[in-house]
Amino acid sequence: MLGHAVAVAAQESCRVIAQYRREAPPDLAEVMRLDLTDGQAVCEALTEITPEAVIHCAAMADPALCQKEREAAEAINLGATRRLARLCAGHGARLLFVSTDLVFDGRRGRYVESDPVNPVSYYGETKVLAEEAVRRECANHVIARCCLMYGRSPSGRRGADENLINALRDGVEVRLFTDEYRTSVCVPDLARVLLCLAQSDFTGIIHCGGAERISRYDFGLKICRAAGVDFSRVVAAKIADLHCVPPRAPDVSLDSGKLLNMGIRLLDVDGGLRLIYGSASRLGESDPFPSSA
Ligand SMILES: NC(=O)c1ccc[n+]([C@@H]2O[C@H](COP(=O)([O-])OP(=O)(O)OC[C@H]3O[C@@H](n4cnc5c(N)ncnc54)[C@H](OP(=O)(O)O)[C@@H]3O)[C@@H](O)[C@H]2O)c1
Repeated sequence: MLGHAVAVAAQESCRVIAQYRREAPPDLAEVMRLDLTDGQAVCEALTEITPEAVIHCAAMADPALCQKEREAAEAINLGATRRLARLCAGHGARLLFVSTDLVFDGRRGRYVESDPVNPVSYYGETKVLAEEAVRRECANHVIARCCLMYGRSPSGRRGADENLINALRDGVEVRLFTDEYRTSVCVPDLARVLLCLAQSDFTGIIHCGGAERISRYDFGLKICRAAGVDFSRVVAAKIADLHCVPPRAPDVSLDSGKLLNMGIRLLDVDGGLRLIYGSASRLGESDPFPSSA
């Protein structure tokens, strides 16, 4: 999802060679099939392309899957990232690594870059270790910690909004937590910001959170309103009501003040949903399904 949006945005002003593993993504001028866990193939690709910058969005990004398939998660999230960092340093390429808000345990929220990490999932652990590897191996790096993403994905099954809408249209009841907070980001907006960072001279960790801290439940209702979807099957729940594996980090909202100081601001949820659902968005209007709230 994110890699596709970044590549689409970047090809407006740069030569982009977009890597994929299984399915060639649409709307891109140059694509290359590459399994990032194949060290030899990655080494050859970088030698052939000699990129000025690598924006590394590939990952096993589903925390539940990472918890079950630890070896595979480690291979792509940590092993492939470490290798890329080493190769980028060797080729003089700048590396932007996409990390996550789930490096934090979520007990406090509004995290700044210098706050201590303490992941509660194996996914978060792999990202913490990958951040360390990037810092160690490649001096010219950006570690962009990003948050829950929404927007259109090539598969139509990846955005937080897509998953919710698909489930509701299938008649599934969806429980969303009123005590789980995120600073969600709209994917095309985030892609624009990551490109700015890749082209800047900033080095280090930077938080890329949306302009609004919002609970998963309220976020879900906003999505339904924007997309004109009936939310009568959205049920308010508390984290303690369900046994989640891995455990939920309650508040991993990020303070993106550092980004703001660079003059860059990510959209709030209303702005992001308007970008995705356009003028059809019902945000700010009266509730389309008031009886089901
Ligand atoms: N989605 C979120 O809410 C969220 C939140 C915070 C941070 N992030 C981070 O943002 C980044 C992008 O996330 P996303 O949601 O866009 O993920 P995504 O849609 O699942 O995309 C991840 C991509 O990585 C590719 N990939 C996995 N293993 C690979 C390998 N061995 N070689 C080459 N490619 C491989 C996958 O290819 P296949 O299709 O072939 O599997 C997939 O296209 C990730 O680093 C993720 O950890 C995501």
